[in-house]
Amino acid sequence: MDDRQLMELARQARQNAYCPYSGFAVGAALLGADGRVWQGCNVENAAYGPSNCAERTAFFKAVSEGARGFERIAICGGPQGAKPMRATPPCGVCRQVMAEFCDPDRFAVVLEDGRGGLQRRTLAQLLPLGFGPGSLKP
Ligand code: THU
Repeated sequence: MDDRQLMELARQARQNAYCPYSGFAVGAALLGADGRVWQGCNVENAAYGPSNCAERTAFFKAVSEGARGFERIAICGGPQGAKPMRATPPCGVCRQVMAEFCDPDRFAVVLEDGRGGLQRRTLAQLLPLGFGPGSLKP
């Protein structure tokens, strides 16, 4: 599964975005170490606070089904109905959720580059000096 294919699955997931309040639709596709792909979209709520991002939807689906160990996530977002072009970088909360389950130096985040291509970052680049499971060790 290359980055383009994973992004295509993120675009597909984005079609299910439930975002009547922001009008900003996001899709994610998370590649597990075993080759399975978990798709997610943002799911908003009238009370705003309970809204969930696409990335966390994908992670929580995967973890709740027993998956552990992840390689990469592709994310795309933009105004609902419009084709995404600009990068939609993951929010801080989603980065923290990634840090719980992924090796920061190996896990890659795939984003649009704004010119019709893709760009990649490691989680360590997006969340430097992050607090993770290792931080709790005595
Ligand atoms: N959102 C995501 O799903 N992922 C991101 O990486 C950024 C933001 C959602 C949250 C909310 O439903 C909408 O996009 C606008 O912030």
